[in-house]
Amino acid sequence: MTTDEMIVRLKSAQVERRFKHTLGVAAEAVRLAPRFGVDPERAYIAGLLHDCAKNFTDEQVKDYCERYGVTLDPYCKTEKALIHGFLGATVARVDYGIEDQEILDAIYYHTTGRPNMTPMEKLIYIADMTEPGREIEQSQQIRELVEIDIDEALIYAIGCSIKHVIRKGNLIHPDSIFARNDLIENRRRSS
Ligand SMILES: [Fe+2]
Ligand SMILES: [Fe+2]
Repeated sequence: MTTDEMIVRLKSAQVERRFKHTLGVAAEAVRLAPRFGVDPERAYIAGLLHDCAKNFTDEQVKDYCERYGVTLDPYCKTEKALIHGFLGATVARVDYGIEDQEILDAIYYHTTGRPNMTPMEKLIYIADMTEPGREIEQSQQIRELVEIDIDEALIYAIGCSIKHVIRKGNLIHPDSIFARNDLIENRRRSS
């Protein structure tokens, strides 16, 4: 499937606001790709598809899980916002023909992060928070940090997500904590 065909499909699958965000993340991923040492074309695809399973109905989620043998992470039972990342990797593979495992992993982990993130995973995590349409007050701070130190930007961005989850009174996915700890431990080792 070409990226133009992906865009047509995403446009019909997403509400306008989400589709705008999708295009914003794809463009931001391309802009930041050289900084992360990631191929811009692959970054573009990962950005386009990162939210391809967002706003799926419960029926759709059930249907994809049954048809493709997806076992959702136990945290998804209560934290519905996590579903679209984990399921998105499967949707990108079966509906959009993506076989590039790094792209699929970037989609899978874009809401939680994980320890030892690849450059592509870091890129999509950051681009999701810094695309121009994203109205979170910390976006500018993350953008500035990326120019100085990618991992510092990521530590800050994950911290912002964790605080957001705490404010909402929701469960924190352990991968987010492990991701942040891993980055901080690496920083200590290298300083
Ligand atoms: Fe997302
Ligand atoms: Fe997103």
